[in-house]
Amino acid sequence: MSNLDLIQQFQLTFNTTAIPRTFFAPGRINLIGEHTDYNGGHVFPASISFGTYALAMKRNDQKLRFYSQNSPNTGIIECDMTDLSYNAAHNWANFPKGMIKYLGESGLDISAGMDILFYGNIPNSSGLSSSASIEMVTGVLLEGLFNLKVERIQMIQLAQKVENNYIGVNSGIMDQFAVGKGKKDHAILLNCQTLEYQYAPIQLDNHAIIIINTNKQRTLASSKYNERCLQCEHALADLQTALPISSLGELTKQQFEQHKHLIQDDTNLKRAKHAVYENERTLEAFNELQKGNLEKFGQLMNESHLSLQQDYEVTGIELDTVVQAAWDQPGTLGARMTGAGFGGCAIAIVENDKVESFKTNVNKIYSETIGYEAAFYTAAIGDGAKEITEECSK
Ligand code: GLA
Repeated sequence: MSNLDLIQQFQLTFNTTAIPRTFFAPGRINLIGEHTDYNGGHVFPASISFGTYALAMKRNDQKLRFYSQNSPNTGIIECDMTDLSYNAAHNWANFPKGMIKYLGESGLDISAGMDILFYGNIPNSSGLSSSASIEMVTGVLLEGLFNLKVERIQMIQLAQKVENNYIGVNSGIMDQFAVGKGKKDHAILLNCQTLEYQYAPIQLDNHAIIIINTNKQRTLASSKYNERCLQCEHALADLQTALPISSLGELTKQQFEQHKHLIQDDTNLKRAKHAVYENERTLEAFNELQKGNLEKFGQLMNESHLSLQQDYEVTGIELDTVVQAAWDQPGTLGARMTGAGFGGCAIAIVENDKVESFKTNVNKIYSETIGYEAAFYTAAIGDGAKEITEECSK
């Protein structure tokens, strides 16, 4: 949909002739470093060109009206600035409501109601962070409409708080950070304990990053996600009986091996092992990429998937099938699931010349095994959340 179409849709939906401002927040992929963020480890994500557009205008009263092009069945969702509490009936609109509530409560002056139209082109339930995208696009639109002075990191932390306390998923900071601080053609190495970060240019010579959507609905994903968080917390508590650490991300593999007997439960032990090994793997992968060693980077991606499959147990038949099929193709440097898992997307680094045969072959194997097709997109790495009114009118 073009911005012009969206403006027309805004005017039609909210019965106005005024021209709204346009904001955009991307989705993200994670190259490596999975389920390490809430364990105080490192992640290596990048923001992508798919994302969420928000067209917005202030109102003269305290009313809030939300509409999503992606969810016409829910119609216009209406509420008032004086009651921003979570309301299950408000469905997806709880994400922007949560942002308005938390930014307001942090002392920022959000003094009027708004009309906001959303349009997202991130594939549904794909694990490419559509929720962080809608949170962060709301953050930048509030910043723009109300002329707020918000540090980007503060906006990111408030968006994570919306996810944790308002929506109820105990997710780490990776998604909001990648969406908020993304940079064209770069990935971000982030230390989730200290929030120190650095950008790394993504130069893949003659290779492309292919996103493979398993099209598997991520049912119960949030309860299984919260269960993994809890298992890691229990493993950490056991280790803390002898070690002065505050997160699993502080341990080297050697330290973990020396002390793993302290972990009482075998399942918790496997979860913690993944967190520690994946964190080291992420730092190693970052270093190899800096050196231009794509082969090694690809191998580490593969190891990451195996660890998520065997120790963290968040892959499932769909992701495993698609990743195995990707590994088996000529020209694939590496492939792994990306995001929380339990369905959603995988990524693969594939030689440009082989991309077409890659898609055909992987899809054939996948649909024969699973019974329905996968979808493929080439990932373009774009900028983080921002206003795009100017860009659109050019
Ligand atoms: C989801 C969460 C992130 C992160 C990943 C797994 O995307 O929102 O915080 O934990 O899963 O790496």
